Amino acid sequence: MSEINTFATQQNEYIELVAQIMQIRAMGEKPLAYVRTYGCQQNVADSENIKGMLALMGYSFTDTPENADFILFNTCAVREHAEDRVFGNVGAIKSIKKKHPSALVALCGCMMEQKHIAQRIYESFPFVGLVFGTHCLHEFPRLLYQSLLSGKRQFVTGNDDLLVHEGLPKRRDGAFKGWLPIMYGCDNFCSYCIVPYVRGRERSRSSAAILKEAHELIENGCKDITLLGQNVNSYGKGLDENISFSELLRRIDAIDGDYTLRFMTSHPKDCTRELIDTIASSRHISKHLHLPFQSGSNRILKLMNRRYTREKYLEIVNYAKEKIDGLSLTSDIIVGFPGETEEDFSQTLSLIEEVGFTSLFTFIYSKRVGTPAAEMLDPISDEEKSERFQRLLKVQEKIAAERCASMVGTRQRVLFEERAKKEGIINARTSGNIVVEVEADEGLIGSFGTVEITASGNWVLRGRPV
Ligand code: 5AD
Ligand code: SF4
Repeated sequence: MSEINTFATQQNEYIELVAQIMQIRAMGEKPLAYVRTYGCQQNVADSENIKGMLALMGYSFTDTPENADFILFNTCAVREHAEDRVFGNVGAIKSIKKKHPSALVALCGCMMEQKHIAQRIYESFPFVGLVFGTHCLHEFPRLLYQSLLSGKRQFVTGNDDLLVHEGLPKRRDGAFKGWLPIMYGCDNFCSYCIVPYVRGRERSRSSAAILKEAHELIENGCKDITLLGQNVNSYGKGLDENISFSELLRRIDAIDGDYTLRFMTSHPKDCTRELIDTIASSRHISKHLHLPFQSGSNRILKLMNRRYTREKYLEIVNYAKEKIDGLSLTSDIIVGFPGETEEDFSQTLSLIEEVGFTSLFTFIYSKRVGTPAAEMLDPISDEEKSERFQRLLKVQEKIAAERCASMVGTRQRVLFEERAKKEGIINARTSGNIVVEVEADEGLIGSFGTVEITASGNWVLRGRPV
C-alpha cells in the first residue's frame, strides 16, 4: 500500500532558513535560480515542484546560468544520448563557477539514481556541490539548506521509498497547459529500460488528491491537462480505494469546464476495452491514444518483457479505431534491440503500415547498465541499426503525410498555443495532438477555436480560423 507523506509540516522550517540565508547573501536582491530540465514530462513536472519550492525560498528565475546563484540540472537516464548532453552541459558550467564562485551547482533526477553516474560526477566535476536522486525531491529545502550552510559537497541518492509525497508547492511553466502526475515509478521492468531502477516501485496518488488538483487547474483557466504516469493503465493498484484508471478518467471528465484531458503513457498489456469506451463517451478526453508498441516482432516483444503480442496490440488498436471517431494514434518504437534480425525489423515496418500512426517517437536501442538487455548478445552493427532507423523514418513520413493530407478541407477544434517562428502565425493543436499553423491574432493564444484545414505537410497542418 502507498503511504502518504505531507510536505509542508516537514520542510517549512528549511524554506524559512534558506530564505534568510539567501536574503543576507544576495544583499537584499532576489537570489536567482537557473533550472534546466531534460527528458520526459514527469521530469518537467518534478522541475515545476522544485521551482515552486525555490519560489517559496525567495528565488526568482533566469533562463541563463551566467548570473544564477543556484544552477540545477534535472537529468534523464533513459538513453545514452540524454546522459551525454548532461555531461557536456555540466562541464560547460565550470567556467561560470570560476567567475561566480558562490553559485551552488546541483544535479538531480534519474541519472543520479545510478551509482556509476553519481560516482563519475563526484570525480569529474568537483564544482558540483549537491546531487540528489528522484526519491529526495520532497526534501529539497533541507538539502539546499545543508549545502548552503556547510559549503560541503552533498551526494544523496539511492534511498528507494514507497511514499507518495503530497502538498509540494508548484510553479507551473504554462498558464493554460498543466501536467498532473497520477502515479510514480514503474513495476514493468521492460528489459531495456532503466526507469524502474531509478524511479522505484509503482505507487498511485489518491483519487481525492488528483481530483483536487484537477479542479484547481480548471478553475485557474488551464485548458489542456495531461495526466502523467509511466503506465497510467495500472493506476490504482495498491490504493485503499478500489479505483481503476478508467474510473479516474470518468471522475475528472465529470468536472465542468472548457478543457481537454490527455494522458500518457499507456501500456498495451493493460489497455482495456473499458478505457477505450471511456474515451469514446467522454466530454473532455482527447481523441488521441499514445500506445507504445516498441517492436512489431513477437520474438523481440518477448525478449523485451513487454507481455503482449503483435496480435493483441492490433486487436486493441482496431477496437479503438472502431469506437473513437477521428482517433489519432501515436507510438514509441525501439530499433536495433539486441539480436533484432531483418525479419524482426520488417515486422515493425509492417505494423506501422497496418496501423497508420499520426506520428512516432523512434529510438535506436541504447544499452543501459544494470538492465537485462545490457547482458544480451548484440551482433548487429551500429551502421545496420542506423540504416534500419532511416528506413523506418521514410516509411512513417509517407504515412504521416497521407494522414495529414486526408484532413485537408475538414474543420478541427484546436487550442491556440503559441507564436510560431514564422511572423503572424500561431501554432494550434488538434484534439488528436497534431500541430496546425494558423494565421491568426495573438490574442487567441490560450483559447479554443475552430479552424479549417487548408494545406498539409509531413507532420503539420495549415489552417484558417472559421
Ligand atoms: N533505448 C532506446 N529507447 C528506450 N526507451 C526506453 N529505454 C530505452 C533504451 N534503453 C524508449 C521507449 C520508451 C520511451 C520513453 O523511450 O520507446 O517508450
Ligand atoms: Fe520503462 Fe517499460 Fe516502465 Fe515504460 S513500462 S517506464 S518502457 S519499464
